[in-house]
Amino acid sequence: MDWGLKNRLSRIIRPDGRTVMLAVDHGYFLGPTSGLEDVGRTVKPLMPYADALMPTRGILRTSVDASVGTPIVLRVSGGNSILSELSNEGITVAMEDAVRLNVSAVALSIYVGSPNEKQTLLNLAKLVDEGQRYGMPVLAVTAVGKDMARDARYLALCCRIAAEIGAHVVKTYYCEGFEKMVKTCPVPLVMAGGKKLPEQEALELTYNAIKRGAAGVDMGRNIFQSDSPVAMIQAVRAVVHDKATPAQAFDLYKSLKGKAGKKSGLKGVTAGRDELSKH
Ligand code: 5RP
Repeated sequence: MDWGLKNRLSRIIRPDGRTVMLAVDHGYFLGPTSGLEDVGRTVKPLMPYADALMPTRGILRTSVDASVGTPIVLRVSGGNSILSELSNEGITVAMEDAVRLNVSAVALSIYVGSPNEKQTLLNLAKLVDEGQRYGMPVLAVTAVGKDMARDARYLALCCRIAAEIGAHVVKTYYCEGFEKMVKTCPVPLVMAGGKKLPEQEALELTYNAIKRGAAGVDMGRNIFQSDSPVAMIQAVRAVVHDKATPAQAFDLYKSLKGKAGKKSGLKGVTAGRDELSKH
């Protein structure tokens, strides 16, 4: 791996081999998602606890302070919307602009088994070629179609194809047999959080993924739609980086939530509509 690419990757995956990425790119096909109506306001208090932030280009330019030290994993695929065929994606950002934005990696979805499987896999191949040229790591997101099962057989197929094409990191969902995906994928796997769960369950999910070999999480709704997002991201960190059990992490969540509540007298963002859970 070239030095530049290695250096960028090491900003995202910390020296312990783990990462807590905060995904806030949902608007690229969902529009104003619950909890992300004002992305700048949502992410500001979470930034100190995120190893990386995953926004789109427009949100990065308009809503994230340019003096921020948190590495950026830029979503560079899109062209679809919740109203259309989700797999119909192209590359939405030139590699030159990603470099200009000084991001640490680019992220794109692949839709294996969908009507646009080939198109999304060739998007990945093109991005990896450009990434190699510029020293930019590529994260492949194994998106699933509306009706597709998220079982280990299917997701292992997606993850392995992404790695074979050259993705440097793969993001996928948790499922039974997760360790099989890890074993058969030669690059780090990070777990997508998926639809909003009660905090304790989301921490258990995180723990199970880490125990079965995930390099971390790229989590969105289970953090920013939590009753206390700042407490939740710290609890997730405790599992990912500090070997906390789900019970210890949930205790930490409750204690931080209690302190934050006393300090501000405000209730955090609550979970609302959950469009992403439809696919
Ligand atoms: C959608 C994405 C999103 O960034 C990610 O899946 C959302 O994170 P979460 O599921 O944890 O809300 O890549 O394809």
